[in-house]
Parts: sequence; structure tokens; C-alpha cells
Amino acid sequence: SEEELVSALADLKRKSPDAMFRSALRKLPEHRTATELEMIYDEILHINALKELSNEIKKQLTKVIQFEFHQQVGTTLFHQGDEGRSWYVILSGVVDVLIHGKGVVCSLHEGDDFGNLAIVNDAPRAATIVTAQPNCQFLRVEKFDFVKILNEVEAKTDRLKEHGKDVLILEKNSLKSRSGSMADTLTPSNYKYSIARGTVDKILEHILRYIQPWVLTGMEDSMEDFIITYKLFTDSKHLCEYLLKQYRAGDSLKKGVVYFVVRWSHIHTYIFHEDPDIQSFLKVDTNFIKHISENPMVAVSGKPGLLNRRSSNNGTSGASQVVLTVGTSVQRYPMSKQNGAEPIHDSDKVLLKIYDWNNTYTTVKLPISATVSFQIIAAACEKLSNSPSDFKLVELHENHDTNEIPKRQTSVATAVSLNSRLYLTTTGDHPYLVNKQSASKTIEASHMETVSSLEIAYHLCKHNWNLMNNIHILEFLFKTCGGHKFKWTTSNLNVMARRFNQLAYWPPTEICLCANINKRVQLLRKFIKWDTYLKMYHDMFGFMAVMIGIGNQAVSRLHDTWDKLPSKYRKMVQGFEGILDPSRNHRNYRLFVASTESTRIPYFPLIMKDLTFMQEGNDTFKDDLVNFEKMVITLLDINVTTSVDNLLETTKTAGTTKKYAITCPVITNQVVLNEMSNTVEPKRT
Ligand code: CMP
Repeated sequence: SEEELVSALADLKRKSPDAMFRSALRKLPEHRTATELEMIYDEILHINALKELSNEIKKQLTKVIQFEFHQQVGTTLFHQGDEGRSWYVILSGVVDVLIHGKGVVCSLHEGDDFGNLAIVNDAPRAATIVTAQPNCQFLRVEKFDFVKILNEVEAKTDRLKEHGKDVLILEKNSLKSRSGSMADTLTPSNYKYSIARGTVDKILEHILRYIQPWVLTGMEDSMEDFIITYKLFTDSKHLCEYLLKQYRAGDSLKKGVVYFVVRWSHIHTYIFHEDPDIQSFLKVDTNFIKHISENPMVAVSGKPGLLNRRSSNNGTSGASQVVLTVGTSVQRYPMSKQNGAEPIHDSDKVLLKIYDWNNTYTTVKLPISATVSFQIIAAACEKLSNSPSDFKLVELHENHDTNEIPKRQTSVATAVSLNSRLYLTTTGDHPYLVNKQSASKTIEASHMETVSSLEIAYHLCKHNWNLMNNIHILEFLFKTCGGHKFKWTTSNLNVMARRFNQLAYWPPTEICLCANINKRVQLLRKFIKWDTYLKMYHDMFGFMAVMIGIGNQAVSRLHDTWDKLPSKYRKMVQGFEGILDPSRNHRNYRLFVASTESTRIPYFPLIMKDLTFMQEGNDTFKDDLVNFEKMVITLLDINVTTSVDNLLETTKTAGTTKKYAITCPVITNQVVLNEMSNTVEPKRT
């Protein structure tokens, strides 16, 4: 009878819940009764691999999981390279994970899962799975159901092990690909793993395996992040050796290797072409180089977005000679570099003017990458017939402050501040001997009040944009992660930092040079107008710098000038000051930027601050694994602009206006500026 059956079932269940569970699982999902589904649910609550899933998802699983059993040891469930059809959880038994060229990398036990990578990445199996014990039992979920269910999972972590150690930690990431939503239509789901941590080689293997050339997926982003940041956790030599090994092994990673190298050269541009390790690597295997150069993608400049600007100017050309002097204005750059039209390369030669204690100077011509101790001091001493060991290089600022330039420093020509001078001194003598006058420049008023505001704003913005565009993305990394550890310099970044100061000292310089009150009011109005245009052009870099300049104490104390300024302009300034407010980590600025569509040129000091914060707050390695998450965060902010020309409409007359916008000579000595300010408008009594 029914009653007997129910009691017999209850009896059976008590005696062997395991057998009941299995018999329920053996049924086709659609034939399972409500009681059976409940029983399956109770059982899977205790399975390790599923513990991160919500109860709701576990309930859904009861309707789709199936049972698989293999009696023999050595049964292959699937081979590396096969299409991925299902995901497995081990109910009992052990399997071995085998990878070509590595053999058995690990064994998986009861409660572990496998087979998810191929499904998530819509790619071939990364390993072969073979039973290592008799009578292995598995739960199996078909690809379609797995994708559907895991789309709803909020967070999930996957740990891949080799020889007992974690080698790759992946995390489910519900974020869309940075490149846009296109990725969602190309992969089976928007369920993706992002790389959280891993060994260098395993992260690379993962990227090479799943990268799909020119398809914008999350993997493309990971590859770019790897290419940009690898110098933080490994070196070019190791990377080259690994890639060559994988290329020669000729398996499924080969295609990935070629694509990787092509993108590497696009992203690193001249740094790729000038790196001796990379150059010798490329020469090792002629087949390889042929394969790469024949790749149709070599000609493509890269996907639009983050890195395109770096990809387009493929810097294969040889080093040019740049003349760049310190201590005078930048007028002696050759035109192309002066206009910011070209980036400064490490091998570019610069002319350094180095003063002696009695104010005579000598010039030395060295690559921008020259270090203070080995090259600059040595070269200067040779000219002056001194012994280099006794000397140090000291920077004398316009305000007569001095500081010794560290011996390891490179990019000296661009790192020193505006209007400063370099001195070669022994410990005994000091540049304070210098005649005050000689360190300050003589600057004449530029009569800028007559120039069209729109025109000058255009040239300011254009030059700022050129300078920003010249900064190699790696320079951000070198600068925030201790430049001297890397072989490369940060010259273009230094130039940008100097530009900020130049723009910030421009309003006080011009305004305090102007003795006539009406002209001064006119000039102040001009600066405020330019700033409005800069803001309109989304040049937040220029906007913030000029605004800081307008707020300089030498300007803000000019009460007569401010009183005569139409109230409309005073209100504009008050509005701008809000954006400048640094409180709560520049909250106002961030809100403003978030509310605008695009920032052409971001407020550069804030990017540096954020990057430094990120750098210092996160370890590069965690438990011996590269903390890849950190690398990704580090880069999210450097998301700059396309060209300025398309937005800015102006007469674009070059000539004097452009020259002013680029050179704008300034006085950076606050004491001098205050004195000048006092002269044009003496203190009110
Ligand atoms: P998939 O590529 O679908 O098939 C093979 C599976 O082996 C893979 O997903 C992972 O789930 C699993 N696996 C376990 N350890 C490793 C490892 N060290 N490397 C690659 N795959 C591994």
C-alpha cells in the first residue's frame, strides 16, 4: 500500500541517504519528485565547491545536476583542447589534472570542482582530466545551465593549484569589459573571471590561452594591464623567454603569443623598440619574427580607447638629437618638441648648463637618461678638470632654495623646476654665494590683454593636450613606483608637471607686471575668461592650474583690481573655487568630472596622487603571487582623451598667440611676486 511504501522509503532513507541521493540524481531532472529535489538540496548544501553559491542558486541546481560514474582508474573525462560542454563537482574519488608540457600539475579531491574555465571563456579545455581512483562519482552541470545559473552569482573565487600551491586565483566579475558592452554579445555570458592573483607564468598562460585577437573581451583588458604593468613584477627578459618557449612548443598558445607580442609593441611603442632584451629576443628565432611581421594585425594601430594614442605613433625611428636646456626658458627645444608635437625619448640628447661656484658655467651634452653620479657629474668634472668624487649636483631654485639632486636620478633636465639652475659644488661651497639678481629672469609684460581669449585658450589647451599625449603610459608607473628601479625615464611626465607650475605662475606674473590698474583689470578678466574656455574644452589640467594662479596671494591681495572687476567675473571665480576645493579628497572636482561627458586632459596632480595612494596601499605580491587586481585598479584612471581639434573651433591663427601659450615666461619666486604685487598696489592703510 501507499503507506507501506512511504514507511519503507523513510526506512531506506535512514539506512542509506547516500543511495537515495544517488538514485534521485540518476533520474532525468524532469522526472525528479519534489521530495527528491529536497533531498538533493539537503545534500548539496554540504558540498565544498558549492558553498559560495546562494541557497536560491543551489535550489536551481537541484533541477539540473546530473550524476556521472567511472569505475576504472585512468578514465579520461576530457582532453586538453576539447570543447567545454560541462562543469563537474567531485562527489567521491580523485582526478589528475594534466597539462601539455607540464604533466600532472595537481590532483582534485572530493568537494573540488573543475571544467569551468572552458565554459566561462568559451574556449578549449585548459587541461586533461583523468580519474586517479576507481569508482569516481561526479555531479555534472551542462554548459547552458552552468552559464545561466552563474550569471546570477554575485561573487565567486576560483583557485587553480599546481603541485600543491595556488598558481592562479580568479574572481567572478560582474563588471562589463572596459572596452564597452560589445563583449557581452561575444561570450556566452557576462559572467567572467578576472585575474585576482597568480604566478607570473600562470597569469600569462591564462591570458595567452583565452585571448581572442581583436575581440574586445575582458581578457583583452587583462592582457593590456599585464603589458603595461609587467615591469613591476617581472622583467622583459623573463617575459621574452616564456613567450619564446610557448611559441616553440607550438601548441594552442602559439596564436596568443603572436598576438601578445603585436599588442606589446603597440602599447610600449618606442620603449618596446629600444629595449635591448626585447630586441635580442626578437632576433633569436627568425620564424617567429617572420610570423609576427607577416601578421596582418601589425599594421593595425589598435583598438580605440585607452591606449590608441600610444599605439598610433609606432616609434621605430632612431633617436633624434634634442637640445633642451635647463635654467633658461624652453625656447631652445627644436620646434617639434617645443610644440609638444613629439615625445622625448630616453636616448634624446640634452644640453645641460652646469654652473660653478663663481657663476661661470660649462655645458655637457648627454642623453636624458644619464644619471647624476656616473654621467652628469663625471662629464662636467672632466670639462672642469676636477675629480668627480668630491662633487655633488645641486639645484638652485629661483627663490634661492637649494637641494642636492640624488646621485641615482635620471631625466635631470626635465626634473628640475622652472627657472632653476644646476650647480656643481663640493661640500664646502654653496650656491648661496650667487648674486640674487642673476637667478631671477627679467620678464617683460606680454600685453596679453589685447589677445582674443578664445584663441589663446585653444592654443593653451592644444599644447596641454600634446604634452599629455606625449606621456608614455609607462611613465606614470615609473614615476609612482620609484623610477630609479626601472631603466626608463619619466621626462614627458616631468615636462607636464612643469607645465602645471608654469600655468599656475602665469596669472600672478602677468598681472603683477602690469602697472596700469585698468589694464590689470582687463588682464584678470582675460585669465578668468580663458579659464572658462578651458573648462568648456574639458581641459581640467589647464583649468585648475590657471585657477590656482588666479588664487595666488600676489593676485588675491590686489583689492583695487578686484573691486573694479565686473561682478559677473567675481561670481565666475567663486563658482570655480568650488571645483578647486581639495577637501574630502577633491570631492567637488571628482563630482564635476563625473558629470561631464569626457575629460580631455585630467587634473594631472590628482592622478599622480591616486596612483601613489594605490601603489602604497596595495602590495605588488600577496602570498608570493602577483597581486594582479592592484595592477588593474592602478590603470583605470589614466583614461585620456582623443584629439582636441575636433571640438575646438577657432580661427587658429598661429604666431605670437601660440608662442605665448607655449612659452608663457613666468616668475616662480613667491617673494618676488609679492614684492611686485606690493609695488603695483601698495598696502591699503
Ligand atoms: P577547463 O579548462 O574547462 O578544463 C580543465 C580544468 O581543469 C579547468 O577548466 C580547471 O577547472 C581545472 N584545473 C585545475 N587546476 C588547473 C590548473 N592548474 N591549470 C588549468 N586548469 C586547472
